[in-house]
Amino acid sequence: MSMKTSSVTELLSLAATGQEVTVNGWVKAFRSNRFIALNDGSTLRNIQCVVDFEKFEEDILKQISTGAALWVKGVLVESQGRGQSVEIQVNDIRIHGGANPENYPIQPKKHSMEFLREQAHLRVRTNTFAAVMRLRSALAFAIHHYFQKNGFYYMHSPIITGSDAEGAGEMFRVTTLDPKSPPQTSEGTVDFGQDFFGKETNLTVSGQLEAEAYAMGLGKVYTFGPTFRAENSNTSRHLAEFWMIEPEMAFYDLQDNMNLAEDFIKNIIEYVLEHCEEDLQFLQKRLEDEEKSKPQHERSSMPLIEKLEFVSRNEFKRITYTEAIEILKNSKPNKKKKFQYLIEEWGIDLQSEHERYLVEKHFNCPVILYDYPAKIKAFYMRLNEDGKTVRAMDILFPGIGEIVGGSQREERLEVLQEKIKALGIDEKELWWYLDLRRYGTAEHSGFGLGFERMVQFVTGMGNIRDVIPFPRTPQNAEF
Ligand code: 4AD
Ligand code: MG
Repeated sequence: MSMKTSSVTELLSLAATGQEVTVNGWVKAFRSNRFIALNDGSTLRNIQCVVDFEKFEEDILKQISTGAALWVKGVLVESQGRGQSVEIQVNDIRIHGGANPENYPIQPKKHSMEFLREQAHLRVRTNTFAAVMRLRSALAFAIHHYFQKNGFYYMHSPIITGSDAEGAGEMFRVTTLDPKSPPQTSEGTVDFGQDFFGKETNLTVSGQLEAEAYAMGLGKVYTFGPTFRAENSNTSRHLAEFWMIEPEMAFYDLQDNMNLAEDFIKNIIEYVLEHCEEDLQFLQKRLEDEEKSKPQHERSSMPLIEKLEFVSRNEFKRITYTEAIEILKNSKPNKKKKFQYLIEEWGIDLQSEHERYLVEKHFNCPVILYDYPAKIKAFYMRLNEDGKTVRAMDILFPGIGEIVGGSQREERLEVLQEKIKALGIDEKELWWYLDLRRYGTAEHSGFGLGFERMVQFVTGMGNIRDVIPFPRTPQNAEF
């Protein structure tokens, strides 16, 4: 096997001149003991390998079944059949590994998403998951590309954290103490002083606080890493382990922050439109087929690619929380008591039904909500002059709901200290965060984009469990 093997993508781009080629891949289908559809993950398309069965031993032919891994050598010729321009006339085949057709779970037919979640180690061999994962990879690259091009530094915030103050949700504890008999303090509580780090530690819910420290020296940074939340939310939008992108910029106010977020999102969508057309076409078709089985009012009005173009080409609507409350208060579903949570007064937290109403019914485009009540947002957000709202902004997307959460940060030491006190947080825990306000403090802002929610939007996948290779959700960490 010394000859250079080609990828399927490479082969399909060649002019067939009867040249000798070799390729590795997995069998998608084997028809009539003659036509192998071979796929290697480099593209959605397969290369057709034509086998003259008289040339091969029964023993070899028997092992060519869906899922088997093969090495194929042959000559590249123009295809006689429809559906492909070139094909391989096979001269030699080696079986890397067969796949017993009696029990190989991924058959050339439609499988349900639920079934495939139980086969998460094999599901990437389906067209849908391969397309989703190629898009996920492209999107990650686009994100790095955007920030690197715009003067940001990639900053690795810690995964294990000792600061317990972000308030973004329940955390997973990190410990090496023996759960059966942890050391006790004299008060009879667990003595974390004897734990690995000498204090309580958890998996991070956000890299923001650490990113703030680095922005106050590097200027513009972004994190892109795994994030953990132990909320027991079994929804199609929540994971216990998800990836988040958190840019943080010194000398940015809330306007600058919103401008960046909008430009960033449009850019990464444009990138995949430009680079992933084949997979997007496939996912669009898939979505159209899926929509046919849904009731009319649940169908999305735009094909996937058109929706992505629409978002990348049109301005996001920006309104304050207060304006949103007015719209919602006077909305049909509120008046007819169709919302599960009715909007009665200013100050309540918005539920996803409200967010979706604004985006999908009222405005029909992405919406940036800003200036939220201080009471429903995190302690670090900058207090407005009115004394009751903070410079927060959430970006809401059609079919997704909240995709970005961000804010201008409170850079004034005294204001921040007061807030921390009011919330009953121990100032000592945040000593280093407060130092950032003691030494060279400045206006600064940032936001967090939920990577999987973005992948959901771009691929049209309805469940967040289907856009991450091995999803972590309550009661589920099999793989
Ligand atoms: O709104 P969140 O909680 O914001 C923060 O964590 C800030 N520290 C970000 C910042 O300002 N640097 O989370 C940000 C985004 C959400 O808008 C959502 O897209 C995603 O992260 N997200 C989740 N995605 C999947 N599963 C979960 N459980 C998620 N929780 C949040
Ligand atoms: Mg949020």
